Amino acid sequence: MNHKKIIAFNWKMNPGSLKQARALLNVANHAGLKSKNSRVVVFPPFEYVFSYDFWGHAAKITKGAQDCFWQARGPYTGQISPRSLKQAGISWVIIGHSEKRIHGNETNLQIAKKLKTAVRTGLQPLLCLGDDAFSHKQGIIRTKQCIRKQLHESLSLLSSADIKEIVFVYEPIWAISAVSHGKTDDPVHAARMVSYLKELLVKEFRFPDSRVLYGGSVNAKTVSKFLGFDDINGFLVGAASLKPDQVSGIIRAIENNS
Ligand code: PGA
Repeated sequence: MNHKKIIAFNWKMNPGSLKQARALLNVANHAGLKSKNSRVVVFPPFEYVFSYDFWGHAAKITKGAQDCFWQARGPYTGQISPRSLKQAGISWVIIGHSEKRIHGNETNLQIAKKLKTAVRTGLQPLLCLGDDAFSHKQGIIRTKQCIRKQLHESLSLLSSADIKEIVFVYEPIWAISAVSHGKTDDPVHAARMVSYLKELLVKEFRFPDSRVLYGGSVNAKTVSKFLGFDDINGFLVGAASLKPDQVSGIIRAIENNS
């Protein structure tokens, strides 16, 4: 199956003003308009997710949100309903990002609940899976065990039809720019883990056409090193997605490589 590459820009809690956010969105939209081979999804913080002034007419951008809750309505102070996202025209949602697992103590069971509700609300979930520095140091066998456990627990409440709606991301926690101190994953290792995830999905979930992205310090310079690996279906990009030249550079690199 020949899908477009997915470029998922995760802005986290940035930028600080609507003006900056719109400028950044325009850059992504503009670069996206010139690209035939990529799908650009932007995940802004919530103050922009629900703002028409923010999204405007960015025709080439698919709208995303960084999280959602597992209930649609009810007494859940501070949570974001997947139904509200859907009603606001949001189509993609990140679930299980390591920063939610770490700072929000999110568990695989909670992630499973969120995935189930998101899928059944008609949102496209992007499920993040990643090994920590400790597992990584113990080698590839431990790394694979860690990913397999996360995968099984995160999918534990879903039917096989639900699972087929998910796009996956292999994002080693130690390679995320906010904590990596400049350490990045070797593209061969990243591709090996992406392929492993695909194999698991085939063998253990009977899901042959899964899409798996890679995330962790990807930027306009490094992205081409990952593009040689066909199993990598796109990228989840954090820090570089806040820099206009990086945004257009990443989209251009993918276009030139296709
Ligand atoms: P990074 O972030 O590209 O800054 O490493 C990726 C992410 O956390 O999704």
